[in-house]
Amino acid sequence: MEYFTLNNGNRIPAIGSGTNSFGKEGGFAGIYTGTTKEMNSCIEAGYRLFDTAESYGNEEVIGTAVRDSGISRSEFFIETKMKIKSREGTDPVLGRKETEDAIARSLDKLKTDYIDVYMMHHPVNTPEELREIWAVFEEQYDRGVLRNIGVCNFTPKDLDELLSFCRVKPVIDQIRINPETPSSETVDYCRRNGIVPMAWGPLNFSRGRDELAQIAGRYGVSWSKLLLNYNWRNGVISIPKSHDPAHQKDNIDVFGFSISDEDMDAIRGLCI
Ligand SMILES: NC(=O)c1ccc[n+]([C@@H]2O[C@H](COP(=O)([O-])OP(=O)(O)OC[C@H]3O[C@@H](n4cnc5c(N)ncnc54)[C@H](OP(=O)(O)O)[C@@H]3O)[C@@H](O)[C@H]2O)c1
Repeated sequence: MEYFTLNNGNRIPAIGSGTNSFGKEGGFAGIYTGTTKEMNSCIEAGYRLFDTAESYGNEEVIGTAVRDSGISRSEFFIETKMKIKSREGTDPVLGRKETEDAIARSLDKLKTDYIDVYMMHHPVNTPEELREIWAVFEEQYDRGVLRNIGVCNFTPKDLDELLSFCRVKPVIDQIRINPETPSSETVDYCRRNGIVPMAWGPLNFSRGRDELAQIAGRYGVSWSKLLLNYNWRNGVISIPKSHDPAHQKDNIDVFGFSISDEDMDAIRGLCI
């Protein structure tokens, strides 16, 4: 496994597993079964970074599989996210109590006394709300309950606001990054500001796959391996998700080849 170093000196794997439909039958919005089979095959394949969220409704599955793996908790990087209800516009503004309660619920479901990366799932509506939430994130970071704190789906404007007052900088911005949605402006902003971009939906797109497969053929790899290697070379963490144990194995074994500069440019050219 390759690692990235975060702006607080902590290290994180360059590849993790998404989990948003794990423990369910029928996809993300499917029926919760509580099965740990997808987690078990991921752990077996070598994954140690897992990305979940309160809104996925499956934190218990991640916690159970980690606990029952026989592997030390300290080897895992569990990341989860606070649900940002105010985005829907109807719920009350989130404040100190809601944030503390959300963290407590996740700790309980994950069966752990610390979270490796805790993130806001979305931007909030007002700067006041952001300050209230982030103050609790910073306090729990100081206590070691949250080992790293970050955000998801923040634009440069959202990050500008957060960086204007935070005492502890976010380590990660998890955003949609793939050839159809490269989020280039946000990725560049993150790079300039010491925030590691993390790609959600890295394999979830259709346009340009044939062209990627053509380039991948030169290295004897699949289009998905090519893209995950490309993200790593660009300083982007990827969290591909698969229910297929063969794909899970494929997606973590992506570092054994080196893409030429010309092909890096060619892949960049496919990203619009
Ligand atoms: N922060 C946010 O707002 C946000 C939003 C969305 C997602 N996320 C996180 O990001 C994770 C990943 O995103 P995602 O689940 O949307 O999409 P993804 O991981 O990019 O793509 C998943 C799809 O790719 C297929 N796949 C995986 N590996 C493959 C391979 N080697 N070859 C061919 N197909 C492959 C999977 O099918 P098979 O199962 O058949 O392999 C599945 O249909 C989520 O699980 C979640 O943890 C975060």
